[in-house]
Amino acid sequence: MPFTDLQESIELHFAAGTAAVADPNALSSFLSLRDALEGGLLRAASPDANSATGWKVNAWVKRGILLGFRLGALEESGDSGLSFVDKHTYPARHFRATDGVRVVPGGSSVRAGAYVARGVVCMPPMYINAGAYVDEGTMVDSHALVGSCAQIGKRVHLSAAAQIGGVLEPVNASPVVIEDDVLVGGNSGVYEGTIVRKGAVLAAGTILTRGTPVFDLVKGDVLRATAEMPLVIPENAVVVPGSRAVTKGNGQEWGLSLYAPVIVKYRDEKTDLSTALEDLLR
Ligand SMILES: CC(C)(COP(=O)(O)OP(=O)(O)OC[C@H]1O[C@@H](n2cnc3c(N)ncnc32)[C@H](O)[C@@H]1OP(=O)(O)O)[C@@H](O)C(=O)NCCC(=O)NCCS
Repeated sequence: MPFTDLQESIELHFAAGTAAVADPNALSSFLSLRDALEGGLLRAASPDANSATGWKVNAWVKRGILLGFRLGALEESGDSGLSFVDKHTYPARHFRATDGVRVVPGGSSVRAGAYVARGVVCMPPMYINAGAYVDEGTMVDSHALVGSCAQIGKRVHLSAAAQIGGVLEPVNASPVVIEDDVLVGGNSGVYEGTIVRKGAVLAAGTILTRGTPVFDLVKGDVLRATAEMPLVIPENAVVVPGSRAVTKGNGQEWGLSLYAPVIVKYRDEKTDLSTALEDLLR
């Protein structure tokens, strides 16, 4: 089915509400969408040079992903060991050696409707949710989460316990975007539609949300999300977790400080050395 027809069909079945559950055409449209997501042919958000953020949200694709949850009935899976119960529309994906994706045993799961490119390495335990897009050569390390619809570029390193938030609803909300060659350090968290531009480095423990101001020591700017734009970390920025003094009221009196991510520099040769990927692991 051409994607324009698929879009029309998804919109129709999504608008039908619970009536879609009894309609076999709704399930077949959803399964076409899920195949296209897994094949990397459709994405919840895609690069768009004409948009202010550089990314366009494909709201109808997100509606289709939500439709899959509405259509899903609970089904049991698992063998004699662990057993599971989940919506039948979102089983765990099965990979073959020819897919070129290494999934090391040990509590990892990639949900149906997620795209995982060749050359991606998934270290256990990790989880990639429906609608996520993970591009070539990326490392998803132990305890990392790629939330629903999150867009992860090429050669990204999601270090141990990095949490990339998902945004499925509202459907026009921009998902978290991590562009090519970014390093997300261990225990970092990127949430609420934040965009991390190419080559940026988030040091271990950096947390970014819509409400987190980021202090750029190099350019003298304070970066914030606005009503129209999410928080955007510039290309090649090196962000480390810092703190800032509270300068008024009780906070000042009590000597408190607040968490403040700081851009200490822009990527240089030393950063490249510090963040060189362990090729041997691939
Ligand atoms: C950010 C990082 C890559 C270092 O980059 P770098 O370009 O080599 O940085 P530099 O050592 O030149 O440091 C630049 C400045 O930032 C400070 N800085 C560096 N890393 C920092 C951190 N994690 N927290 C706070 N400050 C940090 C340095 O002290 C220095 O400031 P100064 O000049 O005032 O002393 C490294 O700290 C890091 O976090 N790596 C990721 C580790 C990780 O999570 N690995 C995962 C493996 S699973």
